[in-house]
Parts: sequence; C-alpha cells; structure tokens
Amino acid sequence: MDSSLLQSVSFYAKRPVMWGEFGRAVVNKFRDPVPDERGAATTSCHQAAVPKQEALEELGIRLVDVTEFEQYQDARKRLAEKGITIAGAADSAFLYSICQQLKPESVLETGVAHGMSSLAILLAMNATASGHLTSIDMPYRGSTDDSYVGQAVPESLRSRWSLLKLPDRRGIPRAIARGASFDLVHYDSDKTRSGREFAYPLLWEATTPGGLFLSDDINDDFVFLEFAEKVGVSPLIWAKSDDNSYAGAIAKPV
Ligand SMILES: C[S@@+](CC[C@H](N)C(=O)[O-])C[C@H]1O[C@@H](n2cnc3c(N)ncnc32)[C@H](O)[C@@H]1O
Repeated sequence: MDSSLLQSVSFYAKRPVMWGEFGRAVVNKFRDPVPDERGAATTSCHQAAVPKQEALEELGIRLVDVTEFEQYQDARKRLAEKGITIAGAADSAFLYSICQQLKPESVLETGVAHGMSSLAILLAMNATASGHLTSIDMPYRGSTDDSYVGQAVPESLRSRWSLLKLPDRRGIPRAIARGASFDLVHYDSDKTRSGREFAYPLLWEATTPGGLFLSDDINDDFVFLEFAEKVGVSPLIWAKSDDNSYAGAIAKPV
C-alpha cells in the first residue's frame, strides 16, 4: 500500500465520526461526475448581484474592517509562522460588522478551517459582550493534530464558543438539537450540491424568524438560488472581493 493511501486509511480508521464521509467519498468515486454548474450559476449570480455597499445598506450595517485589528493580524502572524497561508476564507469584515451591529444572540457557522471567520465573529461578540457562536468543521485529513481546526482563535475568546469537530451530516443535527434556533447562520463548509441540499433546509428551519441565513460561494452551483425560490424569499446577493465569488443572504420572514 502506498504511504498516502495508508495515511488516509489510518486517518479514517481512528475517527469513527468520519466513517460516513469516507463511505460517501468511496460511493462518489464510482458515480457519474456531477455536472459542472459553476459557469452558468456565476452568470446568474452576477445578474442578480448588487454592489457590496448596497448589500451592507440593505442589511443596515456599515463595514468595519476587522482584518486591520491587532488580534486579527496577530492570529494571521501565528498561522504564518507555522507556514499556514489562508485560502478560501469568508468575508471576515462582513461577518464582524454584522455581528457587531446586529448583535445576534446565537450564531451558527459551518466551515471553520483555521478559524478566521470564527475569530471575526468572536471578536464582535467580545466587543458587544453578547452572543454565542457554535461552529462546525470536521477533522482535517492532512493533519494528524485535531486542534488544527479553529487554531486562530485565542483562548481568551473561547468562552462564547462551541466548536463541534464533526462533519456537517452529524454536526448540523447536533448543533440544532443543542440550541433552539439561531439568529444568524453562516454556511461555508461542504460546497458540493448534495452537501448544500442536505444542509440548507435544516439550517433554514433552525434560523430564527427575523434572522438571517448567509451562504458563501453561492455561485458554485444553483442550490442557493433554487433554495431561495423554494422558500419564497428574494435573496440578497453580492460579489465578494472579486467577481468570481458570490455570497448571499436570505432573511427569514417574521
Ligand atoms: C472555506 S473553508 C472555511 C473557511 C472559514 N469559514 C473562514 O472563513 O476562515 C471550508 C471548510 O469546510 C470544511 N468542510 C468541507 N466539507 C465539510 C463537511 N462535509 N462537513 C464539515 N465541514 C466540512 C472544510 O474542512 C474546511 O475547513
């Protein structure tokens, strides 16, 4: 057996919570590839998008750039010292501003990686002395150390944080069973069509009426646009820093 296959087998064997993910990966290997929707979905998002400033105004917030804060930059430095560069992160400034100004009492995020989005949300909660964040991400396959996930968040900010180191299919039902509902939900984990199709309805159901459901990278496929149509709410869509990646929000009617 070659060493990377051996590593992979050993990773899954030691983590029963990941056996379902392993099974899904094996089944997907033998299935027909899922059609690539990204090009067409990006065009649709582009047509529906408003400028980011307009999205902020619609949500009633002004942008505060948390990435310039000392604690955020320190976290970046600590990661850089370990040779970690941040890729695929959500819009931390957007998340900080929403949490700092709308002051959601309960927030749920899926997809933590090193923890930069969690850090932004927790910095806002620390500033307002309110709120609790529940985050979900699964153990990293490339890492033998399960403290890898969320490592950017310093000890001093963890009292308002519950981190569930589980795949979405276990973590989302667990988080929902723990907390009655969430005023703000941010989806940034499994970007496959089936992953979104599993998660969005559960997360929407768990969003407080009057709360906000946010999703990152909504132009990977049509699931977000289809979902907004299904729940009958016109989504707010904006381009992140470049035109190739869109985020979206659906406000849950009261
Ligand atoms: C783009 S990163 C999250 C970035 C983070 N929100 C930030 O802005 O710093 C996506 C994360 O989703 C996680 N992920 C992907 N599929 C998942 C699944 N099925 N269950 C749980 N987490 C998953 C990955 O492990 C990865 O850490």
